Amino acid sequence: MEKKSNQHSMSNEQTGKTGRSFHHFCTVLLRLALFCPLTVFSADVSTLTPVCSGCHGVDGLSVNSTVPIIAGQAYTLIEDNLLAFRDDESACTATGLMQEEAAALVSAMCVFVKTLENRDISALAEFYELQPFVPARQSFDPALAADGARVHLEANCELCHSQGGRESNGMAAILAGQWTPYLERSLMRIRAGERMGPKVMNEAIRDLTDRDIAALLNYYASQQD
Ligand code: HEC
Ligand code: HEC
Repeated sequence: MEKKSNQHSMSNEQTGKTGRSFHHFCTVLLRLALFCPLTVFSADVSTLTPVCSGCHGVDGLSVNSTVPIIAGQAYTLIEDNLLAFRDDESACTATGLMQEEAAALVSAMCVFVKTLENRDISALAEFYELQPFVPARQSFDPALAADGARVHLEANCELCHSQGGRESNGMAAILAGQWTPYLERSLMRIRAGERMGPKVMNEAIRDLTDRDIAALLNYYASQQD
């Protein structure tokens, strides 16, 4: 009798233990899910972002027109570009289409990015994607801007850079409000085949005339609200 009840209570205790440890396991998982990414995430980026801020501005809002605004850009755009600066030497190599200042800044960036681990790159992409994008204040020609709105639609840029280039759609870049000198350099390099994006885009940009590009740049610069 006693034995039985002992066994019984023991098996009860065991069930209780399993139940409790399962509960404990869940609590730990939940804590990990809720707090760990946050802790790891803030610990990682707070030591790294001051370096980025030196060129890309506080929270990714660059005040130098040759350096892109990275606040609010798509996670994949930031991650892909950082992986390229780290692993693909050609992304760091200066070319004739890059002004001297930009080339010097990119090679300085590459020296630092080469020290980053994958998880640093993910944390940075996560951080900058969450920062609000604020359009650059810059001058533009209203007549060319109006023409650019047409080119943007006719060349199908809207397909991926929607809302007139205001949206990144989770993979492309925000173009509206990006600095003109940076965007101009990017467009020239994509047109020359030095920098690659999706095939449809490379082909569409290859067909643009200098005037189309000027019109697009003024259109993107005109969107400041
Ligand atoms: C010494 C200056 C400098 C530093 C420091 C720097 N960058 Fe850059 N970064 C640039 C320049 C210049 C470009 C534009 C390259 C080009 O013309 O293609 C750029 C481009 C980028 C791009 C591509 C943007 C796009 O829209 O395609 C990303 C992403 C980026 N930087 C992230 C970072 C992060 C994150 C850090 C910090 C870890 C950082 N950079 C540090 C100067 C810098
Ligand atoms: C099929 C979708 C698609 C279409 C169509 C498209 N793009 Fe893109 N675009 C992208 C993606 C994705 C990227 C990011 C590439 C990368 O990782 O560097 C990009 C990047 C860019 C960049 C680089 C910006 C930066 O900050 O790095 C420019 C400039 C650009 N696109 C302009 C255009 C223009 C102008 C058109 C129309 C002629 C166009 N795109 C059509 C998907 C597209």
